[in-house]
Amino acid sequence: MNKFCRVDGSELIPVNDFGLQPLGNGFLLPEQTSDEYFFSMQTGFSQSSLMFQLLDQPNPEQMFHENYAFFSSTSLQMSHHFKKFADGILESKFITDDPFIVELGCNDGIMLKHIASKSIRHLGIEPSVNTALEANKVGVNTLSEFFSSELATKVQSKHGQADVIFSANVMCHIPDINDIASGISDLLKKSGVLVFEDPYLGDVIKKTSYDQIYDEHVFLFSALSVSNLFSRYGLELINAEPQKTHGGSMRYTLAHKGVYPIEENVQTILQAELELGLDKAETYKAFDENVRKSKNDLVKLLSDIKSIGKSIAGYAATSKSTTILNYCGIGGDLIDYICDTTPLKHNTLSPGMHIPVVPYQDFLDRKPDYAFLFAWNHAEEILAKENTYLQGGGKFITHVPSVNVL
Ligand code: TYD
Repeated sequence: MNKFCRVDGSELIPVNDFGLQPLGNGFLLPEQTSDEYFFSMQTGFSQSSLMFQLLDQPNPEQMFHENYAFFSSTSLQMSHHFKKFADGILESKFITDDPFIVELGCNDGIMLKHIASKSIRHLGIEPSVNTALEANKVGVNTLSEFFSSELATKVQSKHGQADVIFSANVMCHIPDINDIASGISDLLKKSGVLVFEDPYLGDVIKKTSYDQIYDEHVFLFSALSVSNLFSRYGLELINAEPQKTHGGSMRYTLAHKGVYPIEENVQTILQAELELGLDKAETYKAFDENVRKSKNDLVKLLSDIKSIGKSIAGYAATSKSTTILNYCGIGGDLIDYICDTTPLKHNTLSPGMHIPVVPYQDFLDRKPDYAFLFAWNHAEEILAKENTYLQGGGKFITHVPSVNVL
C-alpha cells in the first residue's frame, strides 16, 4: 500500500468506506481467483489542500503492467475527443516553431498519433508495456516508464524543455503527485503549458457517481485543489474547461506564474465550486449518505427484477463497475454476465465478484431483458448503437444520477 499521497502533509477527514475492493481493472482467469488482491478502499478530504482522495492505494506496479486491460481507442467518443484536442493544441498560441509535445500516460497513442503524423517532436510516457507497444505501432515515440521528477530531468537533457505537457485521465492516478508536479514544472518551458484532464469532482458529487472511485483514481480533482497543488511548484491555473468525457471531466491549463493572462472561466468555476461546497467537510458527508442510498436503491431494483424471472446483463466491463459490484455485493445471482468489446477481457471474471465477462456478440445473441449500463459515461454512443435492442423491448438500467430504468 502507498501512503505517500498527502499533498501538504495534512490529515484527511474520512469520507467513504467502500470496504475491501479488488483492483478496478483486475479482470482475472478462473485459476487466479484464489490469490486475488484486495485492499481496504476509503476516501478522505483535506480541509487545507481541499483534495478529495483515497486514503491508501495499492502500489502502481500492481495496476499498470504488461497486461493492463484498458485501451483508450476502444471508444469512438474518446477517439474524436483526442483528435479534436490534438488539432486544437497545434493551432494554439502555445505552439512555437519547433514544438516538443510530451504526453504523460499516452496509452495506445489515441492523442499523440495525431501529433506524430504531422512529424512534430513528441514523446509519450506510458508505463503499461502492452499499451505502449500499441502506441509505437501507430508511430508514436514512447518511453515505457513511470513519469517522475528524475525522469523529467532525463527527458529534458535528451530532448530539451516541452512546449506542451498533456495528460488525460492519468494525473489523478499518480500517488506521488508532488514529485510529478515538480517534474512538470522543471520540464516545462517558460512559455509552456501543462494541459490535463481528469474526471471532475464536481460531477461526482452532483451525480453521486461514486464508481469513479477505484484503486487507480487516487485523487478526484477540483479547480480548487488543482490550483492549490500546482501553486506550490510555481504554476498557476490559467484556464479550466468542463468536458463531457468520463461522465464529466475538467480540463485544466496551467502555466508558469505571470506568463499568460488568466481566463475568466477560472474565476467562474472556482466560484461554482465554493457554492457547491467543495471546500467544506459537510458536503462530503452528504455525498456519503447519497452513496449509501444509491447502493440500497440499486440492490433493491436488481433483486426485484430478478424475483420476477427476468434476465440482467452488465453492459461494458468497466473499472467503474468493480466499485459498484463489490460495494453493493452484486454477483452472478443478480447479473448473469458482463459483455465487453475488449478482447483482452473476454472469458475473464470480473474483479472480486467473479461475474463472467463475455464478448459483445453474446449480448446481441442472448438479448437480456435488462442491461446495467456500467459505461454510463458513454450512454449517448451506446443508446444510439443499441436501438435494435431497445426497439425489441430491452431496457437499460443506470445508477447515475439516481438508480433508474431508462
Ligand atoms: P470506460 O467507461 O472508459 O471504462 P473505465 O471505467 O474502465 O474507465 O469504458 C471502457 C470499457 O467499456 C472498455 O472495457 C470497453 C467497454 N465498452 C463496451 O464494451 N462497449 C461500448 O460501446 C463502449 C463505449 C465501451
